[in-house]
Amino acid sequence: MAPTITALYGSPRRKGNTALLMKQAVQGARDAGATVDEIFLRDLKISPCLEIYACKSDGECVIKDDFQPLRDRILASQGLMVASPIFFYSVSAHTKIMMDRFQSLWVKKYWLDDNAGGQREFKRKGLFISVGATSGKKLFDGALLTMKYFFDPLDMELWRALTYRGIDLEGEINDYPQHLKEAYDTGRALADALA
Ligand SMILES: Cc1cc2nc3c(=O)[nH]c(=O)nc-3n(C[C@H](O)[C@H](O)[C@H](O)COP(=O)(O)O)c2cc1C
Repeated sequence: MAPTITALYGSPRRKGNTALLMKQAVQGARDAGATVDEIFLRDLKISPCLEIYACKSDGECVIKDDFQPLRDRILASQGLMVASPIFFYSVSAHTKIMMDRFQSLWVKKYWLDDNAGGQREFKRKGLFISVGATSGKKLFDGALLTMKYFFDPLDMELWRALTYRGIDLEGEINDYPQHLKEAYDTGRALADALA
């Protein structure tokens, strides 16, 4: 069966640099036979986590909004691609607000299902795509750590990360066809790895 991949666009810019890279990765994955579900986080209504911790009873978040259908689509996928620009050395607010709601899954994995021994086997593979305007050595360190620990309750490994420095203006990534090609090839490779 064709592998299923969810593609999360995390930039407020619908046609920004990370979105253009993601489009390539999506095309690559589709060309390799995957079914890809594209979701623009800016179109969803997702509340920040309110730390109510009602999820302690059964792992369900009590805030009912677009999080639950999004979570179910991600859990039904074998692959996840997340594209976010670097905002203040982390991911965008759209991306982070979505991630924090997955604390309900973390609670389920580590508190309810008694998985204190640590990581279960990886069931899913994740790709992170990011762009920042500056060129500092540590530009992606914060976001990469965030991704790694966001993927954990999804039993997902950070399979690969594509990070590009020095790109700022909307659409500037188009000046770097080698980056777009790398995104396409990586989308293909992800689909192949999941097949
Ligand atoms: C709120 C905000 C915070 C930003 N913070 C950083 C930063 O910490 N480091 C950096 O290099 N670029 C930063 N940038 C620049 C973006 O990462 C850059 O413009 C990127 O190309 C945007 O990608 P997008 O078009 O996919 O949104 C910031 C931009 C915004 C709007």
